[in-house]
Amino acid sequence: MRSVALVPVLATVLGFGAANPTATVPEPPSKRAAVPTVTASGNAFWQGDTRFYVRGVDYQPGGSSAMQDPLADTEICKRDIAEFKKLGINTIRVYITDNSAGHDECMKALADAGIYVIIDANNPLYSINRLDPGPSYNTKYLQSVFASIDEFIQYDNTLAFFSGNEVINDNVNSTLSARYVKAVTRDMRQYIKRRSYRAVPVGYSAADVAQNRMQLAHYMNCGTDDERSDFFAFNDYSWCNTNFQESGWDQKVKNFTGYGIAIFLSEYGCTTNGRDFSEVAALMSDKMTGVYSGGLMYEYTLEKNGFGIAKIASPKAASVQPQDGFAKFAKALKANPAPSGDGGFTATTRSVACPTKDADWLLDSTLLPAIPEGAMKFMSDGAGTGPGLKGDGSQNAAEGTSTGDATPGSAAVTATPSSSKNAARGGVGGGSVERAPFAVAALVVVLTLTGTLLL
Ligand SMILES: *[C@@H]1O[C@H](CO)[C@@H](O)[C@H](O)[C@H]1NC(C)=O
Ligand SMILES: *[C@@H]1O[C@H](CO)[C@@H](O)[C@H](O)[C@H]1NC(C)=O
Repeated sequence: MRSVALVPVLATVLGFGAANPTATVPEPPSKRAAVPTVTASGNAFWQGDTRFYVRGVDYQPGGSSAMQDPLADTEICKRDIAEFKKLGINTIRVYITDNSAGHDECMKALADAGIYVIIDANNPLYSINRLDPGPSYNTKYLQSVFASIDEFIQYDNTLAFFSGNEVINDNVNSTLSARYVKAVTRDMRQYIKRRSYRAVPVGYSAADVAQNRMQLAHYMNCGTDDERSDFFAFNDYSWCNTNFQESGWDQKVKNFTGYGIAIFLSEYGCTTNGRDFSEVAALMSDKMTGVYSGGLMYEYTLEKNGFGIAKIASPKAASVQPQDGFAKFAKALKANPAPSGDGGFTATTRSVACPTKDADWLLDSTLLPAIPEGAMKFMSDGAGTGPGLKGDGSQNAAEGTSTGDATPGSAAVTATPSSSKNAARGGVGGGSVERAPFAVAALVVVLTLTGTLLL
């Protein structure tokens, strides 16, 4: 079980010559919370004043076909939380949740176990159609997304929201849907701000597509501040009983150095060459911590695809049967605790240049669709009751779609180009200016670390 910092880290950030450098002053932990809230600042996550690394698992008993929310069923979640404690994880990602159900008990039990939750705000029924994205970006869809935010943002242990999962895949035509995913990210961040909620980070979980990995990553962090993500995550299965170089992870550190926002692996754990989880050592080492903030092992429950580490005979089975990988994963986490200190993070956020069109990236414009007019009322009135996991879903709603492109910086919801929140993101607001790397390097960070107990 983790302890929180006894004596806060003192971080002093001095900026020289950078365009509006952002001081990293993580929020103090809430006194009421069983767990301190996690925030994104610079290119890292913070638990109170301590650098936070995702050390977790992907959790979706029954897989996507079961369409079952494990956090809405106390028997299920409590059974598995007991196992999560044995693993020693601090985060779970849940792909499918029911925004019409209550989650108090499971979320509290998770908080009591020191476990944070990353929520996918979409699900198979309410999602963007990668090959016909326009019609699926509609009011009905955003109502469900926003209702999921309403439901989970009330919990201090909600770590982040995903605005989409692997919408863009290895079919190059799906790159045309990236502007809709980015619009959803923008809308979610705007909704959180307009509803005066806690600034829970929002970002996208990308498939690991070698041809356009960097283009997609750059796309999600380019443009005006309102259009950028709070973090980027991708799924990666390239470490197969191998090492930092042979897996290509060294290149993935190099390529993402200076990316400008937090990154973590939203899925990892190759199975094609056995599993030793030696990637955990790399993730927690200074080879990676300056750029990456940990990751989520795919996955907890054993499904047909054979990745899971815990077999569950039936959804409500009282106990689970740990598989070979269970002890191995627990051992890897234990042997590789979260590093102390700041991990060599970068204190400022920055945008990067938008990718240009080529054979692997078909978008030829950086303009995003404006939020569908019907969805604007949610900003002032709230989303109301969520549709849950029933009904026809939103992809074929055939109405309430976007009617044009948004002016960057406005999202067509407000005419204000940047917000107080955005002002704390590096001051790029209003123009798609790439800040020179030297401006980031010009920041002098003096970090005094005293008496901190770490994960
Ligand atoms: C991509 O779209 C083009 C143009 O509509 C079409 O000709 C092609 O078959 C599509 N490719 C795939 C793999 O779906
Ligand atoms: C790193 O970036 C280069 C240049 O964009 C690209 O060719 C290469 O595929 C990238 N490598 C990885 C592992 O993403």
